Amino acid sequence: MKILALIGSPRKGSNTDILVEKILEGAKENGHISEKIYLYDYEILPCIDCRNCKRGLFICTIEDMMHEIYSKMENADLIIFGTPIYWYGPTGQMKLLIDRMRPFIETKKLKNKKGVIVSPSEEGPKACGPLIEMFKMSFDYLGMEFAGKILASAYERGEIKNNQKELKNAYEFGLAL
Ligand SMILES: Cc1cc2nc3c(=O)[nH]c(=O)nc-3n(C[C@H](O)[C@H](O)[C@H](O)COP(=O)(O)O)c2cc1C
Repeated sequence: MKILALIGSPRKGSNTDILVEKILEGAKENGHISEKIYLYDYEILPCIDCRNCKRGLFICTIEDMMHEIYSKMENADLIIFGTPIYWYGPTGQMKLLIDRMRPFIETKKLKNKKGVIVSPSEEGPKACGPLIEMFKMSFDYLGMEFAGKILASAYERGEIKNNQKELKNAYEFGLAL
């Protein structure tokens, strides 16, 4: 299986990144291949509801780096959406990406792909309800399969490294993919 991991935290090597790495480590044990990208390295302009993706070639006509990500998403079997909780939702950069997923409504190119959510937050799982609901409903809309979530409590940069239980949980989740 090809896994694409999207890191929606601006802090490279921090909690989201560490948890996703653990999943990928586990997945690698089973022969899955993966690619991880940092969304903050990409220029992703906002969806402007021009609806060009709803007609003609059904492609987004905004010229930016999102087109590289479109190809990667289309080529993956499983996509990990990694984002810390920012105000009970995803980070701004992750939301820009989600809004730009509109071409997939018509093309159905994400249909039957699996989606995984990885989200650290200060408050932990109890703060993640709206985010999970948003992703699950969006996956449903696109015909994707919700394949699980890793929610962990962490606040400081890289703090999750000290939480062996959560690291093991993420690794085992990856192993079971
Ligand atoms: C702008 C902003 C908003 C945040 N909002 C929340 C929140 O609503 N609930 C929460 O539990 N943590 C919140 N946090 C804390 C982060 O989710 C937490 O520090 C997380 O571990 C960061 O992940 P990272 O290290 O991968 O960047 C917020 C952090 C920032 C910077």
